[in-house]
Amino acid sequence: MRIQGLRYPLIIAHRGFSSRYPENTLTAFEKALDAGVQMIELDVTLSRDRKLVVIHDETLDRTTSGRGRVRDRSLAELKRLDAGAWFSARFSGVSIPTLEEVLRMAAGRAAVNIEIKPEAYEAGHPEDAVERQVWGLSKRLGMTGDVVVSSFDARVLSEIARMELPPALAYLSEGEGASRALAVCRSVHAFSWNVDHRYLDRKRIDAAHAMGLRVFAYTVNSAGRFRRLLEMGADGIFTDDPGAMEAGLTF
Ligand code: G3P
Ligand code: MG
Repeated sequence: MRIQGLRYPLIIAHRGFSSRYPENTLTAFEKALDAGVQMIELDVTLSRDRKLVVIHDETLDRTTSGRGRVRDRSLAELKRLDAGAWFSARFSGVSIPTLEEVLRMAAGRAAVNIEIKPEAYEAGHPEDAVERQVWGLSKRLGMTGDVVVSSFDARVLSEIARMELPPALAYLSEGEGASRALAVCRSVHAFSWNVDHRYLDRKRIDAAHAMGLRVFAYTVNSAGRFRRLLEMGADGIFTDDPGAMEAGLTF
């Protein structure tokens, strides 16, 4: 789904349908797409052999059968790990997906927010830097208009912003000053400001809107909080439970 054709408020499936399925797996993404979301969010980093893999943590311990750092394993080694059983025995055998697998699944069905993890950033913007690979893959799949690339690391976004025909970009903020965050957004010509919901108020949302930015709040799993954010002017939310939040739109 094209970023330009999105309808608001936007409900973004955070790590897929992660309240009910193991996060950042094809199962979680498929279920989110089945629920009819317009956008899925995922986290991407590099394997030892520099492949784009979809996993949130820097280490394997919490969400897979492996131990240690993701970046110390090759894609083949990562693929042998179980990324579903930690969540429920029902999902044992589910593996870590590559970014290409997820993009192919979403193509024509939903937009994709690709969050590049800060630990994958490398100074010097090498030929196969994470941001270059993300951009190259989106282009090869004809999905440059269907992705938003986000990061907590402003350097990742600056590198992409300098590339030819950059995709939509989003700066992720946890709690730093709004003026600094909005300055980063301005410098990379961001599409949206993606912010920890606890940090948002009407004034900050108005300031972002005045710059032409969309404002998306993460991670919101309560219908009441969703409603309050909409009242303040937010354009959408990241949620682990897209089904419940869709239902909540009728509140
Ligand atoms: O992109 C929104 C949200 O995913 C950012 O935080 O830690 O869940 O990746 P995190
Ligand atoms: Mg994320």
